[in-house]
Amino acid sequence: MPVCYITRVEDFCASHRLHSPHLSDDENRALYGKCNNANGHGHNYKLLVTVRGEVDPKTGMLIELNQLAGLIRDAVTERVDHYNLNLDVDFLQGVIPTAENLCQAFWDQLESRLPVGELWEIRLEETGRNIVSLRRE
Ligand code: NI
Repeated sequence: MPVCYITRVEDFCASHRLHSPHLSDDENRALYGKCNNANGHGHNYKLLVTVRGEVDPKTGMLIELNQLAGLIRDAVTERVDHYNLNLDVDFLQGVIPTAENLCQAFWDQLESRLPVGELWEIRLEETGRNIVSLRRE
């Protein structure tokens, strides 16, 4: 069976503050710069989720794209859109909301909900220039 990779893009807007409890205030300022500002700041995030799997010969499809979009929204984007990632999101409690950590947390939310195929890659664009991708193998 041919294997395909399907990517769906979803957007969300959220605010955050980068601050590690393991570092002093000075170290936090030096490391995170403006992203350490006490009252936070926002991003227009793009989340790209790639699913890998075999094409169903009956449908010619791996997964129905509306189904994948709904799943990403239910599992992740509806739960973070227009929220403060440090304070408002249950599954991000205690997580420093860097793009790296957000990818890990989003993976955990998405993985078990996929009806078919397997989660192959999550890519989070914090800005057009700052992009993190995650694969777990
Ligand atoms: Ni930021």
